[in-house]
Amino acid sequence: MASLPLAPASDFRQRCHSIRIGERVNYVNTPHVIALVGLPARGKTYMGKKLSRYLNWIGINTKVFNLGEYRRQATEAYKSNDFFRPDNTEAMALRERVAVDALEDACEWIEGGGGEVAVFDATNTTRDRRRMIHSIVVEKMGYKLLFVESICNDPKIIQATIKEVKVNSPDYKDVENETVLNDFLLRIQHYEALYEPLDEILESHLSFMKIFNTGAKVLVHRHEGHIQSRVIYYLMNIHILPRTIYLTRHGESCHNRQGKIGGDSDLSDKGWNYARTLGDFIKTQRIRDLKVWTSWMKRTIQTASYIEAPQERWKALNEIDAGICEEMTYEEIEAKHPEEFRNRDLDKFHYRYPRGESYEDLVARLEPVIMELERQKNVLVIGHQAVLRCLLAYFLDRTADQLPYIEVPLHTIIKLTPVAYGCKMEEIHMPIEAVNTHRAKPASCMSIQKDQ
Ligand code: ATP
Ligand code: F6P
Repeated sequence: MASLPLAPASDFRQRCHSIRIGERVNYVNTPHVIALVGLPARGKTYMGKKLSRYLNWIGINTKVFNLGEYRRQATEAYKSNDFFRPDNTEAMALRERVAVDALEDACEWIEGGGGEVAVFDATNTTRDRRRMIHSIVVEKMGYKLLFVESICNDPKIIQATIKEVKVNSPDYKDVENETVLNDFLLRIQHYEALYEPLDEILESHLSFMKIFNTGAKVLVHRHEGHIQSRVIYYLMNIHILPRTIYLTRHGESCHNRQGKIGGDSDLSDKGWNYARTLGDFIKTQRIRDLKVWTSWMKRTIQTASYIEAPQERWKALNEIDAGICEEMTYEEIEAKHPEEFRNRDLDKFHYRYPRGESYEDLVARLEPVIMELERQKNVLVIGHQAVLRCLLAYFLDRTADQLPYIEVPLHTIIKLTPVAYGCKMEEIHMPIEAVNTHRAKPASCMSIQKDQ
């Protein structure tokens, strides 16, 4: 399982702050613009949103600027593909103007502080347009720029995209599917008339990546630095094949019953009951080529013991290490380490147990698991409360503040299916009682944080 060596997200954040000298801003670590390139319905928005979700999850503040949205704000309601005709000079001028507006907003967002990567989601299919982007992003602002071009010549994929996502576009409110398909295909033809794919010779000074037919082939040209390497590596690993990811915590453990955190205890009787029920459930689902991943802890391995499918153990899936608080109850921690207990409530995501881990550490530990999940098809992950919170935050695009409080009850199977630009989540509760191990954020801490 290959993965890039991972610098903790907090390191990046520290290195990325800007130093203001007079009016000039000198970046310790330069912000990035990732500009997408490609004909309509080539998965640009899909990749842009997914990339943004990933970068935010690993702690890199990222935002997508979608030109379609800017165009809709700047014009009357979309009428037909005529708007995109190359000889429609008025519309062409407007399209160029909103492209500059969107890009300037992206730069303003970065300059405003905290913005690290802006994703510019537009077709950017001509060399002129890319020259304009380079002049603003690199020459004027001094940021780094990476173009990501999606090339797809499989009509089946393109038609499926139009039928899946374009029929729901605000451009086609109350329009019949067949009309949408025909209009959109004509829109693509208008773009094709002027399309200039990124060129290794004519645009040799640019950093870019080309993705052919959803990843069948990838070309990388002149990429530089850690962030670009990570973006490229991530985009090389994703795929669009239909599949389902199942997540569940282990069955109730003996420590869960006693209210103790951490440790490596066995399942309780009810936990074993869940293991058998889970085995039966998975059998009835007849999931194709299912793989089962567990941690190295007894409770997840025992939970997997009735499942008939190949299994893999991941140390990275082990539960958060509570350090000096391992195998204590929350009440014991509060009594013995009141300061620690309070600090954790104040900032649960960043709080690190003495000689243990934080949720932030856990996200860094789980990054290779996410990368491998992206490469796989059907997988069942049997994990732990904190671990599954981290994985769910990635799939559901939750913030670092929300992450440590995501509810992941015992004896529940979470089914994640990719849809359009995100993930559909279903929860299947198995009718086997279990203790509730969720500890909500105390109300007193919420008001303290607000006051600060
Ligand atoms: P537009 O230019 O009209 O905004 P777009 O290029 O942004 O179109 P999307 O809206 O992102 O296209 O299309 C989403 C669909 O693209 C998804 O259903 C997904 O299956 C498909 N897709 C994702 N990645 C790729 C890819 N690399 N090549 C082709 N299609 C892809
Ligand atoms: O209580 C079960 C458990 O998996 C512990 O082992 C772990 O320390 C805890 O949940 C994580 O939840 P929280 O971060 O809310 O304490």
